[in-house]
Amino acid sequence: MEDTTIFYSSVSILFLIFVFKLWFQPTARRRKNLPPSPRPSLPVIGHLHLLKHPMHRTFHNLAKKYGPIFSLRFGSRLVVVVSSASAAEECFTKNDIVFANRPKLLLGKHIGYNNTTLTLAPYGDHWRNLRRITAIEVFSSNRLNMFLSIRRDETKRLLEKLSRSSSQGGFSKVELKTMFSELTFNIIMRMVAGKRYYGDDVEDEEEARRFRRIMKEAASYGGASNPGDFSPIMNWIDRGDFKNKVVSLSKTFDEFLQGLIDEHRNKKAGLESTNTMIDHLLSLKESQPEYYTDQIIKGLILVLLLAGTDTSSVTLEWAMSNLVNNPEVLKKARVELDDQVGQECLIDEPDVFKLQYLQNIISETLRLYPAAPLLVPHLSSDNCTVGGYDIPCDTILLVNAWAIHRDPKLWDEPNSFKPERFEIREGDARKLMPFGLGRRSCPGSGLAQRVVGLALGSLIQCFEWERVGEEKVDMTEGRGLTMPKVDPLVVLCKARPITNNVLVAA
Ligand code: HEM
Repeated sequence: MEDTTIFYSSVSILFLIFVFKLWFQPTARRRKNLPPSPRPSLPVIGHLHLLKHPMHRTFHNLAKKYGPIFSLRFGSRLVVVVSSASAAEECFTKNDIVFANRPKLLLGKHIGYNNTTLTLAPYGDHWRNLRRITAIEVFSSNRLNMFLSIRRDETKRLLEKLSRSSSQGGFSKVELKTMFSELTFNIIMRMVAGKRYYGDDVEDEEEARRFRRIMKEAASYGGASNPGDFSPIMNWIDRGDFKNKVVSLSKTFDEFLQGLIDEHRNKKAGLESTNTMIDHLLSLKESQPEYYTDQIIKGLILVLLLAGTDTSSVTLEWAMSNLVNNPEVLKKARVELDDQVGQECLIDEPDVFKLQYLQNIISETLRLYPAAPLLVPHLSSDNCTVGGYDIPCDTILLVNAWAIHRDPKLWDEPNSFKPERFEIREGDARKLMPFGLGRRSCPGSGLAQRVVGLALGSLIQCFEWERVGEEKVDMTEGRGLTMPKVDPLVVLCKARPITNNVLVAA
């Protein structure tokens, strides 16, 4: 009898302690004012079943129902989606350090050298060092100017290729997606390793084929999300298939990158240049061998290839699609070019700075078709608040830049392509964020603007462009990490009378 009394008393006391803790502990979960969330959240998968491509449109529709700050469960992970400029600003000003982390996902573990690359590394000394190195060795004006001849040469090769396709005098049909992709890959690979892997004039066709195969496979994982990242049970259902493929790709990729470094280390004869990013990093290694390890160098090459190629080439493709759909804009851009650059010489990169309308076309393209519509996922490293809601530590943050760029409260006729809006300073920095905001914003924006500006300006200066039929180019987004067009852009192109002269002179 006495035992039973002791047992019941103990259980009652424990129960009271539990209730007391729940009641008075301010951080207790039930007291958290989390952002609104769709119901129900299913066991194991949470809201994963709601995720339909394109994701930025799905989130935009959810934001109409649940507001500009809402939350979801991806399996067991809490995700907050922000779709207003003011909330995004709060994330990247007041809470910038808190959100300066990245979630750790399977792709980052295997392909991204255990999340140690610039794009994936957690906020801290290592990430700061990588930003510092790239700010000096890759993105500084000095380095960008040093590599200008590469951008000029690759742009000229693109123009010559187009000029050959339209040499019959009339309009000819051209597919631009592949050409833009080759342009940006060749630019980055020549900066990094002095190599061209696409188009004519490829030195080692076998090596180039290998590289192209690896990049194609890497791109195929871009649009794929891995449910196993959010719910371990999914790994069991998938039987590790996704992981096995990723591990195998990471080995092939790593071997390839190691080969590039070894070649430069041994200064293989016949290399186009010894003034590449790999050479610079290897020379820094001599004074700081513990920091400039091969893995750090491979990680940097990887990041430049994955973050710096498709982003610029899809932007070019969207820009050209907008121009053929809006011939009056194309005409106005050509008038500006003929006025400012003339018809005797080919446009050069420094000219882009004085071509305000051309720059407005690029801004308007990035507004309507940001290459990273949800930026890159961030992760909170502490509790914080956004828009009055509590955001717990370890929450994944997605910022819907695509939705912010089309918010009717911020933009007049938000869905129309109107570069003129930037003449009246409609595009102030807080509402236009194709490169992100705050500490983790894109360090390659200067390079991207130079590549896109020179290529687009040259295409407008040298060719007439028309749609293939009466119908407008379909502007639907396809699937992929860097918002591609659903159909690759095919247009009609005809060399202008000045083209041959300026190409020969250049
Ligand atoms: C039109 C072209 C480009 C667009 C739209 C773009 C956009 C972005 C965005 C939205 C982010 C993420 C910002 C965030 O985390 O909130 C980012 C990060 C990054 N971008 Fe770009 N980018 C472009 C071109 C480039 C180029 C050319 C390079 C380098 C060659 C580059 C390198 C990077 C890197 C390394 C990061 C990660 C930064 C970090 O986590 O600290 N990007 N970019």
